[in-house]
Amino acid sequence: MTTVLAIDQGTSGTKAVVVDSAEGTVAVAEETVRPVYLPGGGVEQDPGELLDSVLNTGRSAVRTAGRPVDCVALANQGETVLAWDPATGTPLSPAIVWQDRRAEGICHELAEHADRFAARTGLVLDPYFSAPKMAWLRRNLTREGVVTTTDTWLVHQLTGEFVTDATTASRSLLLDLDTVAWDGELAGLFGLADERLPRIAACDEIVGTTRAFGGAAPVPVAGLIVDQQAALVAESCLEAGTAKCTYGTGAFLLANTGRSAVRSTAGLTTSVAWRARGRTPYCVDGQVYTVASAVRWLQDLGLVGSAAELDALAAADAEGVLCVPAFAGLAAPWWAPEATASLTGMTLSTRPGHLVLAVLQGIAAQVAELGRLVQADLGRPLTRLRADGGLTNSATLMQAQADIGQLPVDLYPSAHATALGAAAMARCALDPALTLEDAVGDWRPTTVYEPRWPADRAEEFRTTWTRAAAARAGKGEHA
Ligand code: G3P
Repeated sequence: MTTVLAIDQGTSGTKAVVVDSAEGTVAVAEETVRPVYLPGGGVEQDPGELLDSVLNTGRSAVRTAGRPVDCVALANQGETVLAWDPATGTPLSPAIVWQDRRAEGICHELAEHADRFAARTGLVLDPYFSAPKMAWLRRNLTREGVVTTTDTWLVHQLTGEFVTDATTASRSLLLDLDTVAWDGELAGLFGLADERLPRIAACDEIVGTTRAFGGAAPVPVAGLIVDQQAALVAESCLEAGTAKCTYGTGAFLLANTGRSAVRSTAGLTTSVAWRARGRTPYCVDGQVYTVASAVRWLQDLGLVGSAAELDALAAADAEGVLCVPAFAGLAAPWWAPEATASLTGMTLSTRPGHLVLAVLQGIAAQVAELGRLVQADLGRPLTRLRADGGLTNSATLMQAQADIGQLPVDLYPSAHATALGAAAMARCALDPALTLEDAVGDWRPTTVYEPRWPADRAEEFRTTWTRAAAARAGKGEHA
């Protein structure tokens, strides 16, 4: 029997979950973290707040569980970076969050190399990823210390080690996707050739030990992984062709492509799905940047009191109102960071309920489009979509997802998919005989949303919506 403290350090909060291999989730502690939205597309976090939230939630969950833990696992935001002093661990900059668009100019400067970045890293040259942010930070904030993703800094605080994992490295635009090694030439293009980059660990590797969460002896730290990939693991997307979408601050659809690091022909991105058990499967992914953030916008306008009210407020039909929820630009496959959101088709009879439904349908339509594009890279269509994250509580959103995507949507039974995926990796690290399948375990969806719209209605909606999205991106329809 093993007990893991799995910490999910995310954009809007940190969650610590104590997971027992026999009993399942035995304790949960959460803390909100507050990104600061700056004019000009800046999004920052206070590193001290991130570290405090990791320590506070971790200690609180261990206290509630009332038992020592055998291992600490950490899932991270993927592309958020900061500069810090490797001698003292002191932060030398704010954390520059994945949503930050200020590195757009650097990506423009490197545009002639976009194909080279795509071929080597599987990613699109876009400020979303970590290397453009590292370069921006070096040019604009400080040249001191090291500049890394937040996982490396947090793990250094816990263990003293200087390490990242293969999934996080694959979100940088600096990783050779096939060899899973840093690419010095690409680092040079960003002006990062002299940077000290962390060692790249496997997800099922013990990277050090910590006393930060109490206990008589130091506890191993293992199970380092990007939050989206952790959810992919937890939702048993362990075979090529399986896919999940996490509906959190944004929505992130990841589809397992197996051992082949396919370079997307559909405008999606390719990353390491996990590195464990001596294997490195890959995934393609697409992003909707604003999901809970779009609901928050509805709240700020006073149209919705809380996310729990969405279903009660949403009209049965949007009556022609259409939303492209590009409140922070458009990612795959449009890659238009400057795009803005739209709400069209309003008349004097439009009511808040129509706007609420239109926003939810817009989110579902964007995820559906990502799901459709995955088909080109997988060589076959998706047959189901697994779903987790806070907004899966909205039956209206989930039904719209099934209707517009024309796929059954399987709801994951726990609110802690990310932590559970990281915990599964940590259990593998502790027990070399354990298979990843056994570490993840079986689960059944709590609800399955079946499509209710006929295929022609879904197709008509999709066509109208993708035309509107292409217009927001200032491009013709991409497909
Ligand atoms: O790519 C960013 C994403 O992984 C962040 O996820 O849950 O912190 O919004 P979350």
